[in-house]
Amino acid sequence: MSAHGTEPLLLRALRREPTPRPPVWLMRQAGRYLPEYQALRKKAGGFLAMAQDPALAAEITLQPVRRFGVDAAILFSDILLPLEAMGMALRFEEGRGPVFERPLRAQADIDALEPVDPAETMPYVGEALRLTRAGLSDETALLGFCGAPFTLASYAVEGGGSANHAHLRELMYRRTDQFERLMGNLAVMVGRHLRYQIECGAQAVVLFDTWAGQLTLEDYRRYALPWTLRALEPVAGLAPRIAFVRGGDHLLDELVGIGVEGVALDWRTDIARAFERHGDRVALQGNLDPAALLAPPEEVTRRTRALLDRVAGRPGHILSLGHGVMKETDPQSVAAFVAVAKQAGS
Ligand code: CP3
Repeated sequence: MSAHGTEPLLLRALRREPTPRPPVWLMRQAGRYLPEYQALRKKAGGFLAMAQDPALAAEITLQPVRRFGVDAAILFSDILLPLEAMGMALRFEEGRGPVFERPLRAQADIDALEPVDPAETMPYVGEALRLTRAGLSDETALLGFCGAPFTLASYAVEGGGSANHAHLRELMYRRTDQFERLMGNLAVMVGRHLRYQIECGAQAVVLFDTWAGQLTLEDYRRYALPWTLRALEPVAGLAPRIAFVRGGDHLLDELVGIGVEGVALDWRTDIARAFERHGDRVALQGNLDPAALLAPPEEVTRRTRALLDRVAGRPGHILSLGHGVMKETDPQSVAAFVAVAKQAGS
């Protein structure tokens, strides 16, 4: 055993310490591409029911850890649950995704959305984290997560997924005071939820800003970044933080400037260049194209090795995808991806 004992590789990589091999985990590593998930889902009846049942959520969180031996477990939950806890009725529709019955558009609705106490309104999260920890070895890191205020606002205002976020843009540009009020309340809620997850055993947290990549640099600075900073501030020093923006290549300098310990790269970012520019300030996670996992395992192995060659063993690398695993993915391809990290350095 090394001098580090059983400390998870992922936590060492987040401090940019050299590790014998890169730690590996995948965004959306639990879920529909896994037959064992599908089997539970059939019995449980739906995504929300599973995410809000601590024993089931813990079991689903552990499934990819057991199957692939990934170096981190990420709690089976969703970024939209804090909005539900704040009173927004939410359902997940087959083939359509999340739907809020009453999108936040009217000023009265925006004013009524207040931060709540996660320990009271989302106790299933804390319980699921405790149960998951009990099922993990000391070498495996447990991750919590939240959506960033901008991405949460996009779902709350649009009422679900949206191609152009027209309602959100209208709120941002024409009713800026109401937009800022909403973002302020979301930032408080996100900060509380991150903190609650750390108190319940999360050893690092991921902040997903899936839709912020649609913003220009100027708009990101004006309409998203200030509230991301506010959301992350309450957990600074408590646990390492990883920030992700889908399609965020043009925002990379800003993301590094936030002061987070790790930045998760979208698959379109050149990881070698990102290391050259930022590798002395943050750990970098990523960034295989999730679509590459649709290739046969030998091709996945080839592409993953090529990615590691480009990183060239620099400290502070966490091997992962540039976004979530697609539901069409063959688990064998995920196994091939993980195996490359496990064999590296040996
Ligand atoms: O394994 C893990 O990564 C942990 C669990 C997790 C889920 N969602 C489970 C889930 C995490 C970390 C998320 C984050 C999340 N949720 C994000 C940010 C990351 C990203 O993907 O950009 C976003 C934008 C959401 C919102 C969301 N939840 C959408 C748009 C959808 C529908 C589309 C889809 O992929 O199904 C969900 C549903 C959802 N969240 C599922 C899972 C496993 C599918 C549920 C099912 O049908 O069984």
